[in-house]
Amino acid sequence: MNAQQIRNAYLQFFKDRGHVVIDRAKLIPYNDPTTLFTGSGMQPLLPYLLGEQHPSGVRLTDSQTCLRAQDIEEIGDNRHTTFFEMLGNWSLGDYFKRDQLNWFWEFLTKEVKLDPIRIYVSCYIGDDAVGIPKDTESAAVWTEIFKSAGIDTTQLEIGTEENGAKIGGQNARISFYSEKNWWCRAGKAKYMPTGEPGGPDSEVFYLFPEVQHDPKYGEKCHVNCDCGRYIELGNSVFMEYVKTDNGFDKLPKQNVDYGGGLERIAAAALDVPDVFKISVMWPIVEKLQQISGKNYESHTNAMRVITDHLRAATFLAVDGVVPSNKEQGYVMRRLLRRAIRFAFDLGIEQNFLPEIVPVVADLYATDYPEVQAQRDAVIAVLVKEEKAFRQTLQKGLRELAKFADNGLTGTELFTLYDTYGFPVELSTEEAFKQDIKLSDNWRVEFDDKMAEQRARSQTATKGTFKGGLGGDSLIHKKYHTAAHLMGQALRIVLGDKVAQKGSNITEERLRFDFSWGEKVTPEQIKQIEDIVNEQIDLDLKVSFAEYPIADARAMGAYGEFGDKYGANVTVYKMIADGAEKPFSLEICGGPHVDHTGELAEGGKRFKITKEESSSAGVRRIKAVLA
Ligand code: ALA
Repeated sequence: MNAQQIRNAYLQFFKDRGHVVIDRAKLIPYNDPTTLFTGSGMQPLLPYLLGEQHPSGVRLTDSQTCLRAQDIEEIGDNRHTTFFEMLGNWSLGDYFKRDQLNWFWEFLTKEVKLDPIRIYVSCYIGDDAVGIPKDTESAAVWTEIFKSAGIDTTQLEIGTEENGAKIGGQNARISFYSEKNWWCRAGKAKYMPTGEPGGPDSEVFYLFPEVQHDPKYGEKCHVNCDCGRYIELGNSVFMEYVKTDNGFDKLPKQNVDYGGGLERIAAAALDVPDVFKISVMWPIVEKLQQISGKNYESHTNAMRVITDHLRAATFLAVDGVVPSNKEQGYVMRRLLRRAIRFAFDLGIEQNFLPEIVPVVADLYATDYPEVQAQRDAVIAVLVKEEKAFRQTLQKGLRELAKFADNGLTGTELFTLYDTYGFPVELSTEEAFKQDIKLSDNWRVEFDDKMAEQRARSQTATKGTFKGGLGGDSLIHKKYHTAAHLMGQALRIVLGDKVAQKGSNITEERLRFDFSWGEKVTPEQIKQIEDIVNEQIDLDLKVSFAEYPIADARAMGAYGEFGDKYGANVTVYKMIADGAEKPFSLEICGGPHVDHTGELAEGGKRFKITKEESSSAGVRRIKAVLA
């Protein structure tokens, strides 16, 4: 079965089991300011999962086009894409674990005819702290399923978080994990905002034995290993909880929220560990091969990036987005520019979208009438953006020539990149051709600027984590915690007289004003950064409690508002494990992260990007986690 056939078979399979097929929602969520894109099938169904009645009943199915833009820069492996179709089926308080797991198994093994022996699953390990039990029920259903498929029960080794995820368990047919087997829109249960639904889930993986485990991902391979040997095909979420201020409540009804990656299931059906080889991708790669005269095997990364980005941009255009400098339009522009930039790696320097976008559109024209209806308009939007970008690149070339006499610094290379979209590889190559000198530290300087920009653009895709939401409030919290750490670091480096005059947090950066009469030197900046990063690495525990103002003052809590406090205040404490004295103690309304180590998630470091005068006697610092 090819991808199109799998999509149809899936919808038919669930129709035959009493489900109503609903239309996909657009990539731009309707009436949901918390997120830029539709990132999962459940997102448009949120009110119904929370208890509202759906007009089409309690059994629904669809194929939802999704965009997860938060890792644009990471596209290039065998299974991740920004754009994908999520096959979905939902039970709104109707069937539950037994039917769901059996049906998914039946669909994969009987309809798509995957090899049962290569299927592995995972279930939720439980969390005593919040009173949510281990999902032994799903594990029991899976055990029965495997047995009935004649899969040797001696292979039914039950893995645990430890021997499943960290030290092996590579033979475990059923593994248990914690956060990895909990699904909510914010990703991890601990970041779930109050009122959000979520629950334990059960993931299904397909083993590609020909993929060699790469030890850089850990000593032994297991279902959640990142080496690509196991590919996740789908996830059945048993959505029966809602987050409260203190923990979790049961939702009024037990729901099933299933989502499966059409592209990945199609790759499994084709028996290739590479989603780019499937029927809704490969024709794009073929066209690229034809235009460039290069082959996929030797130019895999560039071809994957271009294929992914053009599929995403095409569907964005279908759903009415145009390239611009903000929000969805900005993401679309980035996708297109990156596609054009990667085309340089293939030697494509001329307009190529007029040739390739029709190929993308035609892959969907039959199954999605809206693609057919807008085919020409979509092509026109993308082609226009390519033309404009190439003109910009031309301007960049002329700009570059201006540096013939004085040479180029990293900052200037960054400006060329940022303003003209001029890729640094092109600039340096061009500089070499034109005999323009590069400053000694251009690379470091350029990378620093890029890191700042990445922090900005990552957060421009706010809320695209998993099914949406998340991210934004978390980033605010992180910056807020960073502000406390930095305030304390300033007092350590510059002295106790430093008083905070204000702070402002966006999703891109932290701004912090404080009383100080002179420029903070580069050495001092470095010291402040080092102190903050050290405290992040110490993974201070963050907690809070309420005190009468006098007690808070007596215990040395720092407060930025002089005497403008009420009778009782909340004091936030950040303290290292085993330490006697907190690093930071501050009167504040929160919210903050629970542990400072969270600020380093994704390999991020605290970095001061700017120090300047704000007004007389007040300095202003801008800082990022990047
Ligand atoms: N909502 C679940 C997911 O996106 C199915 O993985």
